[in-house]
Amino acid sequence: MKDQVIVITGASEGIGAALAKHVSRLGALPVLAARREAALNQVAKECLGALIIAGDLTVRANVEAVAKAALAQHRRIDVWVNNVGRGISRPVSELTDEDLQQMLDANVKSALYGMQAVLPHFKSRGQGHLINVSSVLGRVPYVAVRSAYSASKHFLNALTASLRLELALSHPHIHVSTVSPGVVATGFGLNALHGGVDSRALPRAQSADDVARVIAETIATPKADVYTRREYQQQVMEYFGATDMGALEREWVKPR
Ligand SMILES: NC(=O)c1ccc[n+]([C@@H]2O[C@H](COP(=O)([O-])OP(=O)(O)OC[C@H]3O[C@@H](n4cnc5c(N)ncnc54)[C@H](OP(=O)(O)O)[C@@H]3O)[C@@H](O)[C@H]2O)c1
Repeated sequence: MKDQVIVITGASEGIGAALAKHVSRLGALPVLAARREAALNQVAKECLGALIIAGDLTVRANVEAVAKAALAQHRRIDVWVNNVGRGISRPVSELTDEDLQQMLDANVKSALYGMQAVLPHFKSRGQGHLINVSSVLGRVPYVAVRSAYSASKHFLNALTASLRLELALSHPHIHVSTVSPGVVATGFGLNALHGGVDSRALPRAQSADDVARVIAETIATPKADVYTRREYQQQVMEYFGATDMGALEREWVKPR
C-alpha cells in the first residue's frame, strides 16, 4: 500500500472518507473527490499528502478532471475506487423518469466515467486496479423502496464484470473488482433521494471503518467479487438457488 496513488470518489463522508483515512494510515497517497470542498478538506486533514478535487462526478468532464489532476500531481494512478452512490426511497409503482435518471447518473454513469477516465492510463502502464463499490442490493432486491437503486447497482455489476471480460486476455494485470456492502452506518439512508431512515439506526449496520478495511484488503489482494461480510454471499446464493423465490421474498416483508 505504501506510496500507492489511490483515487477515491465520494470521499467527503461515509465509506469513501473512512477508506481515505484507512489507506492513508497504511502509507498510500489518496486523491479525494466529491462535490463538497469543505467536507473534503476536513477528511484531507487526517490524510497525509492527500489531494482533493471538488466537483459533481455525474458530469463526465469533472471525472476526467480528477484523473488529470491526480496524474499531474503524482504521474501515476495505482488504484481507482468508484464509490460515489446514492439511494432512493420510492417503490417501483411510483418511480418517475427523473428518479431513474438520478439513480443512473449517481450509481452507473459516475462509475462508467471513472472507468473510462483511468483505463487509458492503466493500459499504458499494463497494470492498475479498478474497484466499483456496489451493494448486496445489486444482487438481491431485499428492499422494495430501494427499487431503482437496486436496479442501478445490478447495472453497475454487469458493467464491472463486462469490463473484466474485456480486459482478461489483453491486460491480465489490470484488476477489476466489485465490492458489495450490506447496510453500512453512514449518512446514506438520510442522503437517499426522497429521504428515508438513517442507515446508522438500522440493526447490524456495519461500520464504515470495517468496510474500508475490506476494500483495503481487496487492494492488497485483488479479487473479482467481494462481499464485506461473508454471510452476504451465502444469502445471494440462497436467493438464486431457491426453487421458490417468491416464498423467500414473502418472508422478508412479513410483519414481525
Ligand atoms: N451505507 C450503506 O448502507 C451502503 C450499503 C451498500 C452500498 N453502499 C454504497 O457505498 C457507497 C458509499 O456510500 P456511503 O454509505 O458512504 O454514502 P454517503 O455517506 O451518502 O456518501 C456518499 C458520498 O458520495 C458523494 N457523492 C454523492 N453524489 C455525488 C456526486 N454527484 N458527485 C460527487 N460526489 C458525490 C458524497 O459527497 P458530496 O455530497 O460531497 O458530493 C459522499 O462523499 C455508495 O456507492 C453506496 O451505494 C452503501
